[in-house]
Amino acid sequence: MPSQVSGVAIPTRPANRRHRDQHVTELNRTHKHSRSSYSDTSPLVSRNNSLTFRPKKRPMQSPDKVIAVINASGRQAASFIRVATAVGYHVRAQLRNLEGVVATEVSSNPNVTVLVGELYTRHKPTPDNRDVTRNGPISGVGVNHDLISDLFRGVQLAFINTTFYGDEFQIGKALADAAKRAGVQHYIYSSMPDHAAYNPEWPSLPLWASKHQVEEYIRRMDLPATFVYTGIYNNNFTSLRYPLFCMELQSDGSFLWQAPFHENVKLPWIDAEHDIGPAILQIFKDGLSKWRGRRIALAWEMLTPREACEVFARGVGRPVKYVRGPIELNVKIPTGYREQLEALEKLFSLGHDDPKKQPPYFGDVELDRSCPEQSMSLWEGPRGLEEYAREVFPLEEQANGLTWMLEDDDDAADGYEEATHAETMSQATREEEEDEDDQDEMLVMKGRKRDEEEWLA
Ligand SMILES: NC(=O)c1ccc[n+]([C@@H]2O[C@H](COP(=O)([O-])OP(=O)(O)OC[C@H]3O[C@@H](n4cnc5c(N)ncnc54)[C@H](OP(=O)(O)O)[C@@H]3O)[C@@H](O)[C@H]2O)c1
Repeated sequence: MPSQVSGVAIPTRPANRRHRDQHVTELNRTHKHSRSSYSDTSPLVSRNNSLTFRPKKRPMQSPDKVIAVINASGRQAASFIRVATAVGYHVRAQLRNLEGVVATEVSSNPNVTVLVGELYTRHKPTPDNRDVTRNGPISGVGVNHDLISDLFRGVQLAFINTTFYGDEFQIGKALADAAKRAGVQHYIYSSMPDHAAYNPEWPSLPLWASKHQVEEYIRRMDLPATFVYTGIYNNNFTSLRYPLFCMELQSDGSFLWQAPFHENVKLPWIDAEHDIGPAILQIFKDGLSKWRGRRIALAWEMLTPREACEVFARGVGRPVKYVRGPIELNVKIPTGYREQLEALEKLFSLGHDDPKKQPPYFGDVELDRSCPEQSMSLWEGPRGLEEYAREVFPLEEQANGLTWMLEDDDDAADGYEEATHAETMSQATREEEEDEDDQDEMLVMKGRKRDEEEWLA
């Protein structure tokens, strides 16, 4: 390497002298400047090329810890696996199958050992247990203890994000028990708040309440743990007619988002795929002395729905309007998710027109208040909603088979000139504008890229 041959005083590992001299002679023969590592013909050859002073590369130090992860094709887990394996951690990852882009990425990662199988057991689907998303115990559906025990073999750390497929509490409990038996040193559980636990007048969101139940169980068993709550994912938005985060494409090329949140109350936003991984890695690196037993809300931006539409509009280059209104169910959704949406609509309609009465998203005012600063202290390079809307949203939409981003957008551009920021329309105005035909269609929830997983918002 150049630093060895030039005699420049950069400490490197001692070189074999005979080999070094031989190398110098060769370089002097072929290069105008003896420090150069480029060929004679290289246009990069220059006396002052800083590359010529680089010390010899060493193999990267590998952290000797193994991390257990479940639902490895999910946005949270995949984000974490990318970051952790890139710096040398080894991951034991549960995947239900090897199909799809993310499962392929995870299973072909040399730092990942994949365990294929469901976290729940169901020997035979019956009319009673066909829908495994129903909240609570389901007849004929159990927990896959064998796979869960195997997952924690030789593991020191765990990042666990359960979902509502199967009995979430029983699966969460089995995972924590297995981690304890395996002597896991730091267990990060991706939880969510049960609003009723903060204020009995607030309704529980059933899918979040089961995560809260798992969190309480982990606390009782004294597993060394940290609990993260994640904000609203930027990429929940889609122009497909999924409930709650549908960016509905209008005939003039603009978008419209309708949801029950008060238009002027801040909500937490996170780019799950981009930012969960580095934040979780930092929590592991900081360790238990800093985070044992703590709740960490992860969201880098606090934006009202109106502000969210403004930044989204800037990113996507089209007007985006917010309408406060009920959650529209234009597609068939699983029972568990329908119940969640019904409760969510109730919870976020509690304040009616008074923004001060809308419950905090994370249940606890203090968590909502402190989350952007705390998130930034873990990871300083987040992708905001505007950047997401500019760089990623059109690509994801295209991957879902949509073509609006390829079409002539003169109309949309004109509209955007006029609307420098997103407006809020009243529900009444919107209803007048709606094309009645739009309402009739019942889509089955299937998108090419997002597939069924978008139920999980
Ligand atoms: N979206 C949000 O804004 C938000 C915010 C906070 C918390 N959360 C919570 O995050 C959790 C979801 O995690 P995520 O966002 O990382 O996942 P995700 O990207 O939504 O992916 C869903 C995961 O569930 C698996 N899955 C799909 N269908 C399944 C089935 N029938 N049985 C078993 N597993 C199935 C998927 O596996 P395949 O790839 O094999 O289908 C995938 O691993 C949910 O509990 C949700 O409540 C979401």
